[in-house]
Amino acid sequence: MKLILIGFMGSGKTTVGQLLSQQLNEQVLDLDREIERQSHQTIPQIFAQSGEQGFRQLEHEVLRQSINFTGILATGGGTPLREDNLQLLRHTGVPVVLLAASPEETHRRLQQQDNRPLGNKLDVDGIRQLQRERQPFYDRCADLRIVTDRLTPMEIAQQIIKYL
Ligand code: S3P
Repeated sequence: MKLILIGFMGSGKTTVGQLLSQQLNEQVLDLDREIERQSHQTIPQIFAQSGEQGFRQLEHEVLRQSINFTGILATGGGTPLREDNLQLLRHTGVPVVLLAASPEETHRRLQQQDNRPLGNKLDVDGIRQLQRERQPFYDRCADLRIVTDRLTPMEIAQQIIKYL
């Protein structure tokens, strides 16, 4: 594995992961897409059928299988919240990059898509609160933190490449 992207919903992990994949000529594995591929269900369907707990279990299993992937891994916003996931992410030895965005910008981005069972119903204050709760977990994993509010995906990718 070359690099792991972590961060809250809407922070740009998927978009930046795809750009980095092109720029670095590395494959990208998007954990949410891999969960959907393996379960033959969309993320909202998994939440509706198995609840968050069921989703988290699947997410853990797919992470465990994917952790030796040699490329760019884009995680889900909640992946670092479980201690066992956090340990897996930290012990790969590859750089872990945290993408961050303000609650306002995150809210704007989440409004544009309807595929986040945990994020779509949150207002700006709800997002701020959840980001605060998750920050300590993200901080425990991250080697580099990039605030993405005023950056284009290409600028973010360039910053990451410079860091590598
Ligand atoms: C989640 C984030 C989502 C997805 C699921 C739960 C979360 O991924 O894994 O809806 O708890 O933050 P993205 O960060 O790619 O939206």
